[in-house]
Formats: sequence, C-alpha cells, structure tokens
Amino acid sequence: MPAASAFKLRQYVETLSALQHVWRLPAFAQQQWPWADDQSTLLQRNQQRLAALPDIVTSLPEPASPPVPFWLTAGIGGRKLEQIQAFVGQIPLSQVPLLEWCSGKGHLGKLLSFQQQRSVTSLEWNAELCAAGRLAAQQHQLPQTFIHGDALAAAGFAAVQSHAQVMALHACGQLHMQLLKSATATGADAIYVVPCCYQLISDEHYQPLSAAMRSHDFPLTRRELKFIVQEQVTGGQRIEKLRHTEVLWRLAYQIWREQQTGSREYQPLRSVAKHYFSGTFSEFAKWAAAQQGLQYEAKNEGKILSAASERKQLVDAIERVQAPLKRPLECLLILDRVCFLEEQGYHVDVIEFCNYDMTPRNFLLRAHRQTA
Ligand SMILES: C[S@@+](CC[C@H](N)C(=O)[O-])C[C@H]1O[C@@H](n2cnc3c(N)ncnc32)[C@H](O)[C@@H]1O
Repeated sequence: MPAASAFKLRQYVETLSALQHVWRLPAFAQQQWPWADDQSTLLQRNQQRLAALPDIVTSLPEPASPPVPFWLTAGIGGRKLEQIQAFVGQIPLSQVPLLEWCSGKGHLGKLLSFQQQRSVTSLEWNAELCAAGRLAAQQHQLPQTFIHGDALAAAGFAAVQSHAQVMALHACGQLHMQLLKSATATGADAIYVVPCCYQLISDEHYQPLSAAMRSHDFPLTRRELKFIVQEQVTGGQRIEKLRHTEVLWRLAYQIWREQQTGSREYQPLRSVAKHYFSGTFSEFAKWAAAQQGLQYEAKNEGKILSAASERKQLVDAIERVQAPLKRPLECLLILDRVCFLEEQGYHVDVIEFCNYDMTPRNFLLRAHRQTA
C-alpha cells in the first residue's frame, strides 16, 4: 500500500531531521568536540530514537540461484559472483526478454540468460566492456546481446522502451534513477534494481523521485549523499592502512593551511586515487597546496603530523557518533524510490538480497506493475 510506505518515509524524515545536527556535520572540518553531550550519551540517545524506526524490508530473499558451470564464471570475482547469484535468485522465471542496464561486461545478464534460457540485452557505454561481454556470449552461445550506448541519452530510453522487463545491479545514482523514471514512463511490467553511489547525480542537491519525499523539507547535498555510502571498514589491512594515512595527511595539510593562511575555514580537497598516499607527506602536501593556489615548503612536518594525529582522534570520535545514522539515511533514499514506484502503480518488494558483508549496497527493489 502506498500509504504505508509514505508513512514509513515520514517517520524516517522526522527522526533524521531531529538528528540532523549529528549527521549533517562535516567531521573533518571540526576542531573541537561539536556537541554538548559526550560520545556515549549521544550514541545511546540516538540509538533509542533509531530503534523506533520501522524496518523497510518487506520480503525475505529467495535462495541464490544454483551454481553454474565454472567455465561460465571465468573472470568474475568471488564476491561479485555471489552477488550475481543472489540477485538472479530473486528474479522470477520468465521468457520475457530482459534489459540489463549499465551492465559492465554483462556478467549478470550472462548468468541469468544461461539459467533462465532467456534473452538479455545488456546496455553499457564502455566499448571494451561491451566487446568482452559480446565475445563471452558468443563463446557460450547465449541469447545475450549488447548495446554500446549512453544510458542517459536517447539510446538508453529506446532500450527501455523496447523491453517489458529491466534490471540493474549497482547502477550509480543518476543511472538507476533514470532507469526508474524511464521504465515507469514506458510501463515496464517488471523492474529489478539494486541502487548504489547515491551521490553520483547530475545536480548539486538530491532531487527526490517521489511526491511523498518532495512533500517534506529534507534537502540533501552531494556531500551528505556521499557520507551515507562511506563505510567504516572496507577492505583488508593494506586498504585500512592507506585510509589511515589519507585521513592523517589530509588533516595535516589542513593544519598547515590554517597556519599558513591564518584562516580556520575548512577547504576540502578533491578525492584522489589511493596511490597518492603511498609516497611521502611532503609530496602530497605539495600537490594539495598547488590545488589550492598555495606553495608548500616542508617545515616542522613532525609537529604538524602529530597535531594531525590528535585531530584525527577527534574526527574518529565524531564519526563514531555519526556512523549509526548512515543506514537509516540509506533506508530513506530507498523509501523515496519505493514511494515513487508505488505512485506509478507498481507493487514493490524491498529485499536484502545478500549479506551486508558481501556488499553494503544490498537493497534490491523488485517492482511489478499492478494490473487494474
Ligand atoms: C558500478 S558498475 C556496475 C556494473 C555491473 N552492473 C556490475 O554490477 O558489475 C557501473 C557500470 O555503468 C557503466 N556506465 C556508467 N555510466 C554509463 C552511462 N551513461 N551509460 C551506460 N553505461 C554507463 C560503467 O561503465 C560501469 O560498467
């Protein structure tokens, strides 16, 4: 019932609005503890509020699809393969041709077309990925074809228009939002979508999909959307160490900048590849200073780094208070999608299609158009 989802959405909006002084705060920009209460009081109080929120999951996952022959899974990483098999398990058997949106090499389409003996068209804008996928489909004589095209342009809309069923695994923000808009506009019978990277949108601010969400005053910036998907623990030890260095060096640079310019205003640096953090701090600081029109000369680096280490403890403590709010914020974004689909006449199941450890983006929306 649309009313039930809209009601859930309202509860999330109200609770998260009451807690916005916690999650909207950029932890990195703080120089002192920002709240009147201490960490454990805040954690406890916030937890009580969050515990009152309704579950957004509406259905338990079906079992993952049975294993496929090893030759079909060549080149698919272990985790990705598990995600794909879990996803395929949620798609009802059918002979209706399916569109795979932003497919990469089309591994999902490949397994699904094998297991359901079903024709799949995979849309992808990277020519190399299309070529690799096409080759695999030919080798295995599967009914899978590729469209090399831009999902956000006319090619994308045309592909949706010619399919009654569509699916997307981990299509980033604007891409899966566009799929939801186009597929509902063309009256697709079934829509299977696992959203990810909510921050990759074309506007500075989030543009809600549903009328239900638009009826609330709940703005979200790209930075806030990114906060939602930034995980506390991601990879192995090496990744963790690099992440530690990255935070420390960014803070050290910020402290140097404050000393240099006399301004305490926080000026974020853009995201960069991890290899920037395997050289020396001096090299990083030179690069960072150049980005902001300054010139870096190494001086007192030991002192700056130890001040950064202290500030990192503050940032870590702030982030520990913020972390439990990420999943509820993601639930709110999922509810926006659910309400939108329901407003367009669909019945929607929200399924945690695989474990969070396998991928934190583990909400699958399974929508079927309701017939009058
Ligand atoms: C996160 S990957 C997901 C790939 C695949 N669905 C999976 O789960 O492994 C997103 C894919 O979308 C493709 N992509 C990004 N923008 C696109 C666009 N405008 N049109 C078509 N494909 C796009 C990328 O090249 C990439 O292969």
